Amino acid sequence: MTDHDQTAAYRPNPNHDLFGHHEALTFDDVLVVPGWSEVLPTEVDTTTEIAGLVLRTPLLSAAMDTVTEAPLAVALAREGGVGVLHRNLSVEDQVDNVDRVKRAQSGMIDHPVSLNPRATLADAEAMMARHKISGVPICDDDGRLVGILTNRDVRFCGDDEYGRPVTEFMTGEGLVTAPEGTGLDEAVQILHKHRIEKLPLVDAAGRLCGLITVKDIVKRIEKPESTLDERGRLCVGAAVGVTDVAERTEALVGADVDFLVIDTAHGHTRGVVDAVATIKKGWPDLCVVAGNVVTREGVEALAEAGADVIKVGVGAGSICTTRIVAGAGMPQMSAIFDCAQAAREIGRRYGRHLPIIADGGVVTSGDIVKAFVGGADAVMVGNLLAGVDEAPGDLELVDGAMWKTYRGMGSAGAMRGRAADRYGTGQGGHKHVAEGVEARVRYAGPLAELVSQLIGGLRSGMGYAGAANLSDLQNRTRLVRITGAGLRESHPHDVDVTRD
Ligand code: XMP
Repeated sequence: MTDHDQTAAYRPNPNHDLFGHHEALTFDDVLVVPGWSEVLPTEVDTTTEIAGLVLRTPLLSAAMDTVTEAPLAVALAREGGVGVLHRNLSVEDQVDNVDRVKRAQSGMIDHPVSLNPRATLADAEAMMARHKISGVPICDDDGRLVGILTNRDVRFCGDDEYGRPVTEFMTGEGLVTAPEGTGLDEAVQILHKHRIEKLPLVDAAGRLCGLITVKDIVKRIEKPESTLDERGRLCVGAAVGVTDVAERTEALVGADVDFLVIDTAHGHTRGVVDAVATIKKGWPDLCVVAGNVVTREGVEALAEAGADVIKVGVGAGSICTTRIVAGAGMPQMSAIFDCAQAAREIGRRYGRHLPIIADGGVVTSGDIVKAFVGGADAVMVGNLLAGVDEAPGDLELVDGAMWKTYRGMGSAGAMRGRAADRYGTGQGGHKHVAEGVEARVRYAGPLAELVSQLIGGLRSGMGYAGAANLSDLQNRTRLVRITGAGLRESHPHDVDVTRD
């Protein structure tokens, strides 16, 4: 029996709903309805919990090679968000990026690098330069601390002194130490009392077991909102693909990555379900974000496979051409809403919260507000961060304005690297079909300033909605659908803008 056979049994067309009453919406189709408010934007709480982390700034940076490498991940975690390191580079280089984030700041440095008393001043200088540190403990062959050498000790050394042993320059006698287990508050008092910058911690046998530095303590005081792990280090996630999942996961876990993101353009697939299962089997305690999906069935499949967080969005990204090339995708507000509803139901069934990350298409702080009202638990951004100082790449001067490169991971340029399997191409001898463009975005200055603007916008939206926290925004805020005329009215209109 063929589909054209007039005698075939009647089956309802699966697109009946689409042409009946269902229509998918995106950010510009809706607005938040201002509601009764007793909250001030300065007082609202923007904290979210996702991927085992508490984020005071509910933003993740996209795993893209023009967005997230170690410098941006460090800067975003310091502002209370978290970065996802891209995977368009070798496993070793991605691990090195995790390591750089983890070493950027500590509560207590657990295994501080040290030198043997026989090392020379030149060895010490080389080590301090390589690890970007201003001092190094000196330990004997049994690991017992015998001194510490800091920049101060070597500042005015002559060229002829570089071959001499570090013991001639270090502070040895009268070195201030504290016992293993000393807390940060107590350490601050000791550092202050002795006017020193570094406090080595030693065990009962005098062996070096930790180091607390003024620099790390100051960083914590300056940015109390930072996203930190239990050892006071900045948190970071990393992307893995389906083709190299076990190898990459093993290496990233060895570097203490905080969570993984299975990074594909289409997550409702056998490959992604199997990749989630592989990680959960080998590393049951590791938090896995999986995606991307845009339907309740997609959420269901990934949750069933064991994903802890679901990432939502197909074709919404500012550099995406998936919807043009493949004709597939879902306007992002509908994707967020449907997936969030499904995640709530599934979460209730499994007795756990199943958060979703809205990924792609967010180009204003207002879009961030709308994503939360649609049900998102956090928002992933690429375009918005690609122009900041900490993003990879140099500034370009074009027509008097400063720009930075921003390209899709499915663009021809990015797929020459390791990103091709994100799009299910480049495997088995198939030719790459680009699903993204290579572009540039306006230079946006330091990340901290931009994030403060974005979160300022989110706070303002929460004020209009009367939402004291993100849960109120997700559950109690109304959206209204607007027309093209409404959208025109939303932007500055009937004026010649002189200052943006
Ligand atoms: P924004 O809107 O922030 O979106 O630029 C970033 C998200 O877009 C996805 N992405 C792509 N999607 N082709 C696509 O269809 C691409 O080349 C591409 N590169 C990135 C990804 O989910 C990212 O987080």
